[in-house]
Amino acid sequence: MPGLRPPRPLVAGDFDAAREVADSWFGHPVGLTLHRLFFDQLGPTGVWIESTDGRPAGFLLGLISTADPDLAYVHMHAVDPALRGQGVGASLYREFGRRAGEAGCTRIRALAAPHREGAVAFHRALGFDGPLREGHLGPGEDRIVFERALPIT
Ligand SMILES: CC(C)(COP(=O)(O)OP(=O)(O)OC[C@H]1O[C@@H](n2cnc3c(N)ncnc32)[C@H](O)[C@@H]1OP(=O)(O)O)[C@@H](O)C(=O)NCCC(=O)NCCS
Repeated sequence: MPGLRPPRPLVAGDFDAAREVADSWFGHPVGLTLHRLFFDQLGPTGVWIESTDGRPAGFLLGLISTADPDLAYVHMHAVDPALRGQGVGASLYREFGRRAGEAGCTRIRALAAPHREGAVAFHRALGFDGPLREGHLGPGEDRIVFERALPIT
């Protein structure tokens, strides 16, 4: 990816930059879904990609499940709209999956709202599949529970 630094773990100091871009990158307010917890306490499992001039290009908030240590779980991820369609999102997932695989994970999971067509297409393109679960996050909050084996090739 020309013009971009290699993916690296998140650090606590990335929170402010992520907060600044998140609502416009997602196209809606993300609220506390973008929680500081993922930077301050879980940063080392997350992924950050920035341009060579230091501007954020993409980030992934994720963790290794303590209930199911085989499982790497993506909480949210986003890419600068100006940089979409160039493999940045796939790079976030590959880097997260690579590190989680080294830590012993064999599966990776992510949720997608069925009406978010871009996110659904992205996961299917990366080889994810899974059931639509009605009310998975509460009344009216249906989600596709996407999963695939690691590594992501
Ligand atoms: C979803 C998102 C992260 C994809 O990032 P990206 O950098 O454009 O994705 P990539 O370029 O790495 O694409 C990887 C694959 O997904 C496909 N894809 C990505 N976005 C797509 C879209 N909107 N429609 C159809 N296919 C799409 C690409 O065609 C590519 O497939 P290929 O490997 O067969 O060519 C980005 O659109 C985004 O930030 N959206 C807003 C936030 C969001 O919805 N996040 C996910 C929910 S938490």
